[in-house]
Amino acid sequence: MKPYIYITRKLPEEAIAPLRQKYEVKMWEHDDVPVPKEILLAEVKKADALLTMVSDTIDEKVLNEADNLKIVANCAVGYDNIDLPAAAKNGVAICNTPDVLTDTTADLTFALLMAVSRRVVEAAEYTKKGQWKSWSPFLLAGQDIHHKTLGIVGMGKIGEAVAKRAAGFEMNLLYHNRTRKPEIEQKLGTVYCTFEDLIKKADFVVCLAPLTEETKNMFTLEVFQKMKRSAIFINASRGPVVNEQGLYQALVTGEITGAGLDVFEKEPIDADHPLLGLLNVVALPHIGSASVETRTAMMNLAIANIEAVLDGKNPLTLVNKDWTSCTNSK
Ligand code: GLV
Repeated sequence: MKPYIYITRKLPEEAIAPLRQKYEVKMWEHDDVPVPKEILLAEVKKADALLTMVSDTIDEKVLNEADNLKIVANCAVGYDNIDLPAAAKNGVAICNTPDVLTDTTADLTFALLMAVSRRVVEAAEYTKKGQWKSWSPFLLAGQDIHHKTLGIVGMGKIGEAVAKRAAGFEMNLLYHNRTRKPEIEQKLGTVYCTFEDLIKKADFVVCLAPLTEETKNMFTLEVFQKMKRSAIFINASRGPVVNEQGLYQALVTGEITGAGLDVFEKEPIDADHPLLGLLNVVALPHIGSASVETRTAMMNLAIANIEAVLDGKNPLTLVNKDWTSCTNSK
């Protein structure tokens, strides 16, 4: 019997066609609706491999259902949607898609920063709605980006790629990270700061930290109150690092000037969420890595990880480094 791969979203048939020669492959039929939990639970019972999306919760209940599962290949660099201890207990390799999305996600992060500071979305809507009646000196005037201070919270590969872009804008670069990165300090002139210092000094605070117990709810009203009143906050990591009520409060009371958000506590965000009613918020539907080239590369990397594990080889981008194919009892 061929090993069974279940894919939780509809992917282009040509991308998975080569897999069909060696494996039995089934996909969830929709690309705009996540697979319902009961279907996922039934599929994981039969599957040797799962190809998952960031919107799938692969928790203990799902992993405990698995009888033959060897790998979960998550189509994302983040893997906070997967219960790693439960994966370890069940001998399942967890893989992500780092590196291939670094520059694309940094581009989007910088685009959000630029959109908020120069009021690009607001100005575009203003023009399209026919509200532009005359030129005037301070019409939709925003804030400069060049020569300002950028504070990056979470200096991983995407943080470094954002810093590179910011260096081109001659920005002063501060960062906060669990560990210092002397090579990046040397190469790009980034200055390490405590979190407290960074939020007080930065004109732009950009969060790129992964979601962990330590980073959850890191940005509260109290934190926003310590930022400059002219500060712009950008979040391109995970929604739960931010207390959204605190952010809303900070934005409406002028504690900070604006926010650019690609991620939210609950995704998709409800259309009547208070943050969406604010002109000084640019909100995107979690599209950090969403270029055709990069999403294709992520999909191919996830597929390569599955093929490796099902062939008894080491995957290319393993998250749970203590996993080895020989410790896998299944
Ligand atoms: C997307 O959010 C990712 O983690 O790749």
